[in-house]
Formats: sequence, structure tokens, C-alpha cells
Amino acid sequence: MNNRQTDSLNLVERKTSYQQLFEYGIRHKTPFMMAIMSAFIFAFLKFLIPQVSRYAIDVLIPQKQFQLLPLLAVGILCFYVLFGLFNSLRVYLINFFAQKVINSIRTDLYNHIQNLSTGFFVHNRTGNLMSYLVRDVDAVGNLFSSHLAELVIDIASILVLIVYMLTMDWQLAILVIVTWPLIVYIMRLSKNKLEVAYRELETQAAEVSNILQDTISTIQAIKSFGNEKYEIDRFAECSHNYMDSNLRAIRRWSLVSPILNILNNLSSILVLVFGSWEVMLGRLTIGELTTFLMYVNIITKPFERFNGLIDIIQKAMVGAERIFEVLALEPEIKEKEDAINLKLVRGRLKFEGIEFGYEANQTIIHSLNLDIQPGMKVALVGSSGAGKSTIAKLAARFYDPQKGRVLIDDYDLRDISLKSLREHIGIVSQENLLLYGTVRDNIAYGKLDASDEEIEAAAKAAYAHDFIMELPNGYNSIIGERGVKLSGGQKQRIAIARVLLKNPEFVILDEATSALDTESERMIQQSVATMLEKRTSLIIAHRLSTIQNADLIVVLEKGKVVETGTHNDLILAGGRYASFTTVEC
Ligand SMILES: Nc1ncnc2c1ncn2[C@@H]1O[C@H](COP(=O)(O)OP(=O)(O)OP(=O)(O)O)[C@@H](O)[C@H]1O
Ligand SMILES: [Mg+2]
Repeated sequence: MNNRQTDSLNLVERKTSYQQLFEYGIRHKTPFMMAIMSAFIFAFLKFLIPQVSRYAIDVLIPQKQFQLLPLLAVGILCFYVLFGLFNSLRVYLINFFAQKVINSIRTDLYNHIQNLSTGFFVHNRTGNLMSYLVRDVDAVGNLFSSHLAELVIDIASILVLIVYMLTMDWQLAILVIVTWPLIVYIMRLSKNKLEVAYRELETQAAEVSNILQDTISTIQAIKSFGNEKYEIDRFAECSHNYMDSNLRAIRRWSLVSPILNILNNLSSILVLVFGSWEVMLGRLTIGELTTFLMYVNIITKPFERFNGLIDIIQKAMVGAERIFEVLALEPEIKEKEDAINLKLVRGRLKFEGIEFGYEANQTIIHSLNLDIQPGMKVALVGSSGAGKSTIAKLAARFYDPQKGRVLIDDYDLRDISLKSLREHIGIVSQENLLLYGTVRDNIAYGKLDASDEEIEAAAKAAYAHDFIMELPNGYNSIIGERGVKLSGGQKQRIAIARVLLKNPEFVILDEATSALDTESERMIQQSVATMLEKRTSLIIAHRLSTIQNADLIVVLEKGKVVETGTHNDLILAGGRYASFTTVEC
């Protein structure tokens, strides 16, 4: 995780991951308690079944109670039915609990990520965020739905069984216990070997998902360079490494597993041999020996389970660490507790002594002072990297300046609630304009409760209605992740329709330099003009006509204002702007 200057980790008050996981568990204590109860009943039934066998062998058989045999069969059958029933109930309830917990974690995480500032997304790879939300949450979920809850019961039932076995025949019980240190020793040895293999496996898995994420989202670039083969080879190598790590881990596990199995059965063998000896000497009944063997079988199960659990716990804790690290991030842009809900706005936008840099010790915008009166159109002009988009981001409060203030009417942006601020601003930029969904949904994003008539009116005003009607399903046509089926100009007109529907007092237009097809050029010009009408606007456009009509043109160079004036003023002055326009024309 990238540690940013302001989206900072709140280390002081951070609880451990265990504590936080526990708190999530506590939130859903009812299903947890129910799961534990059903698991207890299940364990109790498991304990009873060998007792029935013992009764049959030691009492019914010697007494030749033929008439009780059918009853015995029915009795045992009933036991197994109950056993199965409680087993299903236990499995369902534990998973129900686990799903509740991971649903809470996942929604909290998504909620938190939604509220983090833009800076966070610039600094974190999408692949990583996806892996927090999917892989890590799942890893934590596995822990909750695994045998963790049973571990509590396992420990309790082992204790009960040991006490029972000790009272029944302490010598035999000790034979069982002496094999444990050996099992634990081998388990620890194998755990270390496996851990290395699993860690390697995780790294490779992350790499595969990162490559997938990166290449699928930049498929256009890959194709435009004809680099498909290169990417296929790169992926094939990565996938091969992942396969190798998988196989390595499986090989190690396949070696360890039979050894553990033999060790687990060692106690059974010991009990069988020495138990038979004792039966022959008449110190133990056959029924007691059978019961003993069954209990030994029950007792060794938790060891096998625990072995699997170590791996799940390790993976879950790595996931939990990463999740809670994100949850502990404080949003860079925070709302004040008593933030003002701005209802009516006149439309003045003022930059007052702004100094700003994205990182500490860096200044991108130098002492910016700009007073934009209601309804005024201001164009920002300057070479690439001059800071135009940065000023737009400051106006929408995606970042806060280090010095100075940005004001709407007479309110500092930091005093206004983010929701109300964004309600009054419409932004059109060329990147990531559209969301996956229909054209209608995309326009309605500006006003979620808009009627079909309003949507259509907005589309008409943005000169988008005609081409929308030509799409296969009109307003119901699905546009892809980035609107791949539309031209740049068409996407922009839909984005403008969205802003028109929203009807904000302020408009920010940040166009990319990409050339637009000439067909839509005129349409866009008109559509942009409609959008800017009667609104305070900040325009970063590359179209001379849009800039020319601005009330004020601000020329920037390396984050400093070098010239201001109208088109005519600046042309007459013959400075930077005049040279720009001659180059562009
Ligand atoms: N998120 C960011 N983090 C750090 N630096 C950034 C970030 N975004 C932009 N910059 C830097 O800030 C400077 C100004 O960038 P800005 O995007 O404002 O330029 P611009 O004038 O909009 O350029 P263009 O015309 O190419 O869009 C550039 O040097 C850029 O490298
Ligand atoms: Mg820009």
C-alpha cells in the first residue's frame, strides 16, 4: 500500500487485526451462538454413538438379547439421522455467520474506498484494490467459515474424551497421548516448508491478476501497437510460474499428508495391540476396546483439521492486515462536522492566494488569484503540464490547496458539505466519462430521479438525441465500460447531456487534446455552448472557437498566471497567447 502524505494511516489508535476481526464477529453474535450450539450437539452425538456400540457388544451380545437387535438398529439409525441433521445445520449456520461477517467487511471496505479522495486512486493500482475487495475478503471469509468455530469445540471435546479415556484405562490413554508431541513436531516442520511454498503461490497469484487487470483495461493500446503476441508470451510465462508454484505446494503437501496420516493412525495401532492384550488378560471388555478405538479416531481428526487451519489462518491474517490498513486510511478530503449545506448559489468562484502541490515539497500551482463573477466564462490556456486540470480539480475540491482558499460565493470550499458542493458543479472531462449501462442510465446519472422526457430534452439540448436514436436500441443501448461503441465526440455529448440534466451553477469542461471527428465537431461546439450558457464556467478546451468566446482567458505557464484578458486584448498584446493561437491555427 502506498503511504500518501495525507490519505494517511492512523497508526495511533489502530487495533490489531485480531481485535477488529473479533469486533466484526461480535456484530453477528446470534448466528454465531446458534452455530456453536449446533456444533456442541453434533459433538455430543458423536460422543454418544460409540457408547451405543459398547452397550451392544458388552451387554446385548453376551445376554443374547435377540429381540433388542432390531431396536438397536433403529436406535443407531435414528442417531445417524440426527447426526446428519445437526451436521447440516452446523455447516449452514457457520457459513451463514461467515457470510454475514464478510458481507459487513466487504460493504464497509467499499463504502470506505468510495469516500477516499481521488489521490488514493491515483496511487493505488486497480488490481490491488480489486484484490482487497475480492481475494482478501474471501480469505478472511474462509477463516470464519472454516473449522475455526469447531476448534473451540474440538479442544473441549478432546479434553472431555481424554478425561473419559483416562478414567476408562489410563495406560491406553497415555499411549494415545505420547504420539502427540511427535505429530506436533512433524506438523511444525511441514508447516515451515509449506509456508514458503504458499507465500510464493500468493505472490504468483497476485501477479497473474495484476497482468490480467492491466492488459484487459489497456487492450486498445496493446492492439494499437500490435503487441498481442508479446502480451501473450508475458502472460504465458507468468501463468507457468503460477502453475509451478501450485505444483510445488501440492508436491510438498502430498509428501507431508501421508506422513501425518501414518502418525495419526499410530495411536490406533498402539491402542489396538495393547488393548487386545488387555482384553485377553480380562482387564478390558471388547466393547470398551471398541469404544476406545472409536474415540481415538475422533480425537485424531482435530489434528488433521488444525493442520489445514494453519494455512487458512495465515492467508486470512495477511488479507485482514491489508483490509484494515485500507479501512484505517483517513480520507484526504474531509468534511467538517458542521459543514454547510449550500442550497442557493449565485455562482461566484474565487481562487485566493492558492499554492498547491500533489506531493509534499512540490508546488504545481503558484500564488493563483482569480475572481470569477457569476455567469462568467473563463478559459484556461497553457502548454501541457502547465496546471490547467489541476486548477479544475481544486475548484471541484478533489484536492485541498496547501495555502490560500477556493471560494464559492463567500464560502470556503472546506466549509461546505461535499455533496452539496458537487451538486452545484458539473464536470465534463474526456476520460472515464461513461459508466457501464444504458445511454438513459448514463444521462440520468446527473439526476437519478429524472423522467424520460427530461432525459430526452437534455439529450436534445446537447445535440445527442439524433445519434442516440440511431443506436440499435436507442436510449436503451448498452454502452461498454468506457463507452467503446461511441466516438469521442458522442461520448462527450452524452456527458454534456448529463450535466444539462443536472443543471448546476458551475461547469468545468476539461477536454483532452484528442482530435474529434469533423462530423461531430460542429455539434459539440453547439452542445458546449448550450452547456456554458448562463453558468459560471472554467473551460479547458483546445477549440479556438470555445476559447475565443470566453469572457476571460487565463494563460498559464508552469503553474503561474502569465497573462489574462479577452481574446482580442491578448492578441493585441502579442504575448504567449498570441503565439499559441498562431501555432494552433
Ligand atoms: N495526481 C497527480 N499526482 C502528482 N502529480 C500530478 C498529478 N496530476 C498531475 N500532476 C502533475 O502536475 C502538473 C500539472 O498537471 P495538469 O494535469 O494540471 O496539467 P495540464 O495543464 O492539465 O496539462 P494537459 O494540457 O496535458 O492536460 C504536471 O507536471 C503533472 O505531472
Ligand atoms: Mg489536463
